[in-house]
Amino acid sequence: MKTTTPHWIVIGLLVTVLAAGAFKVIVLGNTAKADDGRTAVILEPAERQAVLGEMRILLETTQSIVEALANEDMAAVEAAARPIGSAAIATVDFSLRAKLPLEFKKLGFGTHYAFDDIADMAKEGAPAKAIQIKLSDTMNNCIACHASFQLPEKRI
Ligand code: HEC
Repeated sequence: MKTTTPHWIVIGLLVTVLAAGAFKVIVLGNTAKADDGRTAVILEPAERQAVLGEMRILLETTQSIVEALANEDMAAVEAAARPIGSAAIATVDFSLRAKLPLEFKKLGFGTHYAFDDIADMAKEGAPAKAIQIKLSDTMNNCIACHASFQLPEKRI
């Protein structure tokens, strides 16, 4: 009788290779260990610029929300937070997503969802103090991600 064992070995190897590939793409992304101990996410120059541009918008948005909260101007809080909420995730293209490690995506997407929550809280008339606490929690994501990751310029 013919044995099928070798097939299982080949299938087993293929599954292992695919699982390792999926682990690399989904969990690790395109990364390397940086000199300062953080994880370097290696992006093309245009992708890096897009991410840093978004970062500057996050900083501006945070400033606008702090100012609007001090003025108790909830419409301005919502107007600042809404565009950087989950709507902004759709602009991240798929080849860039594949290079971002899972932890980076969790912190990044979580930050966008938190700005949705801030916009909703402002719309629903939550007290300024509650929104301040939410913003402060959200900024822990900024701190956590900056402590873990950096975006080096690609050496040519
Ligand atoms: C998912 C990860 C992540 C999150 C969340 C995040 N950042 Fe960043 N940010 C980065 C990385 C990585 C850099 C590049 C740092 C480096 O290379 O040293 C960066 C850079 C920046 C810069 C510099 C931009 C430039 O032009 O060089 C600013 C400003 C900034 N972030 C603001 C924020 C603010 C404000 C928040 C939160 C509201 C935030 N970031 C949340 C990952 C993140």
